[in-house]
Amino acid sequence: MPLTHTKDLFAKALKGKYALGAFNVNNMELLQAIIEACEEEKAPVMLQISKGARQYANPVYLKKLIEAAVTLSNIPIAVHLDHGDSFELCKECIDEGFTSVMIDGSHEPFDKNVEVCKRVVDYAHKHNCVVEGELGMLVGAQHDDGEEGGGYSKGGVYTHPDEAVEFVRLTGVDSLAVAIGNSHGAYKFKGEQHLDLDRLKAIKKALMDAGLGDYPLVLHGASSVPKELIEEINHYGGKMGTETAGVPEGDIEIARRVGCTKVNIDTDLRLAMTAAIRKAFAENPKEFDPRKYLGPARAKVKELVRHKVRDVLCCAGHAFD
Ligand code: G3H
Ligand code: 13P
Ligand code: ZN
Repeated sequence: MPLTHTKDLFAKALKGKYALGAFNVNNMELLQAIIEACEEEKAPVMLQISKGARQYANPVYLKKLIEAAVTLSNIPIAVHLDHGDSFELCKECIDEGFTSVMIDGSHEPFDKNVEVCKRVVDYAHKHNCVVEGELGMLVGAQHDDGEEGGGYSKGGVYTHPDEAVEFVRLTGVDSLAVAIGNSHGAYKFKGEQHLDLDRLKAIKKALMDAGLGDYPLVLHGASSVPKELIEEINHYGGKMGTETAGVPEGDIEIARRVGCTKVNIDTDLRLAMTAAIRKAFAENPKEFDPRKYLGPARAKVKELVRHKVRDVLCCAGHAFD
């Protein structure tokens, strides 16, 4: 089966009211784990490649690995650039055949963000590729200046519903990553903080009311940072500390129902891999065959991905809709 286009995956996910897992790929074991889990669970999947992944693994190796995954499996697979930071990088990926790219101008002022997104959209749409933009900053819940005074005051770091409408209209982006208290990594929240799901609902409604339909939203920073993985890492010599916190799976469940069509997960894959490798080394310090620790790491990532697609994102069983 050739690559499946991101827009086809999105259309089916919106219709079926499930979320697509967008899992970051950096090497063969991660890719195999993701694909095997999704194949066994009959889940469509988005593989996403960051600039750092391209630098680490080399774009040609990644392309060939993904070609192997597409050849050897029968599930729908789309390939996406994660956090593209320039027109040039997006163009490279579009020219290589990625089915979607993200242009992340979220650190720029609104007008500059619009400008770079529009430039990428113009090129992408001429080359059968779709584009994800981002509005608001993924700085986590503790920096929510926009909430001061209540309501969705402009000027904060969270995505403003009206601005989301304006941004989508001005840029023509095909999906929008939102900032609702989400952030990357293993230390997302302090105390009782969590995602601003009311804001997510307001953004979705504003887009709908503006005539943009059931518009696909994207949730970055969607790892749950499972306590048992942190405990395992720490038990086998890691020092992750006690401050780790992820997005509760219940929040992801609500985000999915509200309309987050693409849910980005990377940190949890890293944690699963690290826990298994630490365990393998701790239990057998004499081991030096990489297959003996990368094998268990791949198996652990596979179980994690299986859980995500089946129990959290609910895309399992939808590969052949
Ligand atoms: O959003 C960030 C992703 O987890 C990718 O991370 O840039 O270290 O590859 P990376
Ligand atoms: P996590 O760090 O929560 O896994 O987020 C990954 C992500 O958003 C990739 O773009
Ligand atoms: Zn991200």
